[in-house]
Amino acid sequence: MKDPAGEVERLRQELRRHEHLYYVLDQPEISDAEYDALMRRLRDLEERHPELAAPDSPTQRVGGEPREGFVKVRHSSPMLSLDNALNDGELRDFDRRVRELLGDAEYRYVAELKLDGLSMAAHYRGGRLAQAVTRGDGIVGEDVTGNARTIRSLPLRAAAGLEEFETRGEAIMNRRAFERLNAERDERGLARFANPRNAAAGSLRVLEPRITASRRLDYYAYLLLAGGRPACDSHWQSLEDLSRMGFKVNPNRRLCRNVEEALAFCAEWEARRDELPYEIDGVVLKVDSVEQQRALAFTAKAPRWAIAYKYPARQAVTSVEGIEVQVGRTGALTPVARLKPVEVGGVTVARATLHNEDEIERLGLHIGDNVVIERSGDVIPKVVRVHSPGSRRESFRMPSQCPVCGGTVVREEGEAARRCINTNCSARLKESVLHFASRGVMNIDGMGEALVDQLVDRGMVASVADLYGLTMEKLLLLERMGPKSAANVLGNIEKSKGNPLPRVLAALGIRFVGQRTAELLAGEFGGMDAIAAAGVEELQAAPEVGPKVAQSVFQFFREPRNRELVDRLRAAGLRFEHHAAPLAGGALDGVTFVLTGTLPTLSREEATRLIQLAGGKVSTSVSKKTGYVVAGQDPGSKLAKARELGVRIVDEAQLLELAGVS
Ligand code: IVH
Repeated sequence: MKDPAGEVERLRQELRRHEHLYYVLDQPEISDAEYDALMRRLRDLEERHPELAAPDSPTQRVGGEPREGFVKVRHSSPMLSLDNALNDGELRDFDRRVRELLGDAEYRYVAELKLDGLSMAAHYRGGRLAQAVTRGDGIVGEDVTGNARTIRSLPLRAAAGLEEFETRGEAIMNRRAFERLNAERDERGLARFANPRNAAAGSLRVLEPRITASRRLDYYAYLLLAGGRPACDSHWQSLEDLSRMGFKVNPNRRLCRNVEEALAFCAEWEARRDELPYEIDGVVLKVDSVEQQRALAFTAKAPRWAIAYKYPARQAVTSVEGIEVQVGRTGALTPVARLKPVEVGGVTVARATLHNEDEIERLGLHIGDNVVIERSGDVIPKVVRVHSPGSRRESFRMPSQCPVCGGTVVREEGEAARRCINTNCSARLKESVLHFASRGVMNIDGMGEALVDQLVDRGMVASVADLYGLTMEKLLLLERMGPKSAANVLGNIEKSKGNPLPRVLAALGIRFVGQRTAELLAGEFGGMDAIAAAGVEELQAAPEVGPKVAQSVFQFFREPRNRELVDRLRAAGLRFEHHAAPLAGGALDGVTFVLTGTLPTLSREEATRLIQLAGGKVSTSVSKKTGYVVAGQDPGSKLAKARELGVRIVDEAQLLELAGVS
């Protein structure tokens, strides 16, 4: 390579741009696999050219050794907490004080969501992340720089603007990451985190940055300081600046002219809080003008220019009428409380998960007890604690036989869950089929619970591979299944054969192998057979694959039953080879394509991505400049137009060949 330094810089910029698009703006332009490919290229180059190393390179997020403890750091100015307003009246009281203190001058408020995490200061020197410090007691916090560097939405290098500054903001864990973490802890027999805030705090304060990295924290900046003081004259402006500098700033904010507008913002987000992917516990209101902030000053504990409007916790008390046990895809038995229906924050709740038997013991729960339940977003409601014992209490014991198939149930050492070990258990099978067909996995539309129940109960499907043997005659035997919907389902099953290898791999339901891990494995090994043949160590050599995942994949392919399943899926025509997407600058540079009709395996989006990745363009109308028209089934008028203009017409197979991926 002529100019490794130039190439390294180009890759770093490219990766920074994609990190910003993905982690800050939530608008990725490329797939995880493509991102990983870029990262690998950069890593390779940096290894070959150690002289080009840089601490703010995107490869350097997880570095450094585990620490022995945290160093204490004094904050540039105290990190104060806020006074609370518990209802509209208290917020109006706050506003009245502000008005009086400002002597009738005009003022505005910035209303922001109050994220429920922990506050953290991040110091930048020369535009680079130099130090991150937890709030601690507000005067002195702990240096958590190594861990904070793993938070992808926290830029290692500010994109523009100030060189020396400090941001204060909230480190949070979103609900999905929280659920995933707890599910994983269940599997490993570890105690669950009670809420995303505790999980975020626990993850930021671990001594091993790798652990923080795996927890996928997020950081939202809400203050911009220089020399311990506000860096702008207006708070609103500082939020805009932070956003321009590449920080994640919550877009749900509003500049309010008076307290009524602020109250409207509070009410709006109280009603909409379930739409958010993370927990909020209220709204923070800040006087916008920094000059006015200065005039209002501080009490010993909190600023007089800001307040937290707190939402009530979404809890309710009700009684437990019974405990049912559900069986999941992996055979795990989950106890679920049947509740006397109760309204919590506008939703009627009749069931709440109890997770596992340890949790029931921890709660000291008996059937008949009155319990406090809590609903948070789309998370299934949970039992927080026993409120008072019921008058007629009955203790609950987890069954030693599967409630669905009667099979043996075991609890392995180190696991919180009991599992039904009967691989033919119909509950497990149904869950496996639903997982296989689900959106984002094999995407078999129409393969919902009602259909799967029938297919399994009638013995038509005893393995996911049987889906590919379904016929019109068989489907027509089912209830509520006419020829039209049957044809639809069959068409969708057929279409699913075109799914790329990572999806097939994720569809198998191997423990710990979700879409991302599947993509990494496919990228590393190139094909199903190589993955199936790999030893534990080889598997572990793949990026981000730890011993737990490696062991699980290895075990899966040692099981004769699973090998048979894989063979049958191969025979059905599923994709077992991985076509790594080529990077831009490829075979189709500058060529324009027009798509028409349904292609046999690629969706329109996939075909478009494929063309773009190889450097081509996709247009919606055919002209003389069109390079190729890709025609599938039931093409539209574009095909006729192409013929008329003499544009070359190709099918999917030819497209793949042109793009260099077949
Ligand atoms: S401003 C002097 N803005 O709430 C201003 N805080 O009870 C200090 N929080 O410790 C904080 N979202 O951890 C501010 N948009 C936001 C916030 C926010 C969450 C937390 C923060 C703070 C606590 C105050």
